[in-house]
Amino acid sequence: MREILLLSGPNLDLLGVRSPDVYGTATLSAHVEAVIARAATADLRVRHLQSNFEGDLIEAVHGARASAVAIIINAGALTHSSWALADALAIFSGPKIEVHLSNPAAREPFRHLSTLAGVVDGSLAGLGGLGYVLAVDAVVHLLEDRETPSRLPGATA
Ligand code: DQA
Repeated sequence: MREILLLSGPNLDLLGVRSPDVYGTATLSAHVEAVIARAATADLRVRHLQSNFEGDLIEAVHGARASAVAIIINAGALTHSSWALADALAIFSGPKIEVHLSNPAAREPFRHLSTLAGVVDGSLAGLGGLGYVLAVDAVVHLLEDRETPSRLPGATA
């Protein structure tokens, strides 16, 4: 079965207790379960890694080149600082979707830059947990578009 690599960056392990007014009350496990359930409807399995260490995430992206067909990533604050993670993602050729629970563009200025935005296929921000589910839908569409290049991008039939 084809695999999506779901990556969660620093401090996302504390979702549920971390600033629930900003990030909601759902735990990371709940978001991961939602991704697994949505991916299963498209016969995709999910491997999830959460790490507070940049290098772990970079190595997971490298490994995905051999094991995964797509990557969904919420890199946490590394989104705003890690050119190394962006470089790693640029090497991965499958669909890549960036997710943020909050809307960084509406928050502090340091959150307005995403080093990842230029190397992913698309970004979902500010939609809470819905963003994770929509990211799976985006991956499914992008995989189908790549398999059937002649059809209109995003078309359902
Ligand atoms: C976040 C937004 C980032 O700015 C922040 O550092 C996070 C979470 C989000 O999901 O909204 O850790 O990626």
